Amino acid sequence: MRFINWLLHKCIVGLLGVVQKFLSVPTQTLFAGAGSSGQLARHMVAMGHQRILLVTDQILVDLGMAENIRKSVEEAGGELFVYCGVLPDPTTAIVEEGLAYYRTQRCDSILALGGGSSIDAAKGIAASATNGPVQSLVGILKIRQALAPLYAIPTTSGTGSEATFAAVISDAETHRKGFLADMKLIPLGVALDPLLLTGMPQGVTAATGADALTHAIETYIGRWSNDEVRRLSGTATRLLFDHLPRVYRNGQDVQSREAVSLASYYAGQAINHASVGMVHAIAHQFGGLYGTPHGVANAIVLPHVLDCYVKHSPEALAELAAVIGVGRSSQTDHERASAFVQATRDLLAQLGLATRLESFPTSDIPAVANDSMAECRQYPVPHWVSRAELETILDKIAV
Ligand SMILES: [Fe+2]
Repeated sequence: MRFINWLLHKCIVGLLGVVQKFLSVPTQTLFAGAGSSGQLARHMVAMGHQRILLVTDQILVDLGMAENIRKSVEEAGGELFVYCGVLPDPTTAIVEEGLAYYRTQRCDSILALGGGSSIDAAKGIAASATNGPVQSLVGILKIRQALAPLYAIPTTSGTGSEATFAAVISDAETHRKGFLADMKLIPLGVALDPLLLTGMPQGVTAATGADALTHAIETYIGRWSNDEVRRLSGTATRLLFDHLPRVYRNGQDVQSREAVSLASYYAGQAINHASVGMVHAIAHQFGGLYGTPHGVANAIVLPHVLDCYVKHSPEALAELAAVIGVGRSSQTDHERASAFVQATRDLLAQLGLATRLESFPTSDIPAVANDSMAECRQYPVPHWVSRAELETILDKIAV
């Protein structure tokens, strides 16, 4: 059985790897720094967009963020229309509602403002504006036409959705998550404005930061990693180790907020080339079964999966040790990889993140193991974890 699973994984990853090599990742326009959200809004008007649909949620409207964007758009001579119906885990119904408003107001472009949910909803609206119902776009490379012009301003630093080719839209009836994956989903322009991030609660800062860290590490050590990926995810890893503890202690630290948002963005770019890995395969099951926030689930799973890789493929983890300045060059790869994993555990502990999942009973281990193995077949993991190794990992997480 292990051989069949391994062979399936090899075939799927091999095939996806060939497809991935032929896909070109579009270049984005990036604005970063205090006030960059206004710069992006003015840039959109300069690019000829006159009627911009802002896709966001009610909380950010109440915080006055939509009004600030409106001022910038109007100063530049454009008009802003606000759709603020986005909820966590956006559904096809939300996409349809946003699209109807886009059409009623005869908008010519879309600006997402918010966390991963708002950006994913905006991707869904922009894709279905030119390609038909969003349900028909679920899957890999289903989008034929270029999207309605799409731009993004993230207000969390973790999902990397502002940089990635993916969106998650749930079916309004079944609540089953649908994954859209296509390079056309990558927004044309992004603003990383630290002034919009200073109000992020401490728990959200920690969880989303752990998600970004997982993206950075999984892309760095995965089998599709290359020089470009290592440049992006290595930089992201270093920035997160340096700055996440600072923003966790002091949410008003604008410089560190900017560094963490850049790290999240770079790690998202790395995903476009190198995908994620085993940590995500397990964490997604916890999200689906128990509603565990994605970053919290990643933080719990990450050190255990890395422990396994220290044993079987420590080389890339040893490189990451050098990136963050732990371990010594005289040590073996195994010793330096162990030092990196210990540093990761220490960082997650500093962020107050859990090490076990209270809602995960040991009786669920077989089901979670099955579904994690199935999802993992598509990821270019550095080592194919056996069923027995996976159950050992899950046993350390369950209560
Ligand atoms: Fe993630």
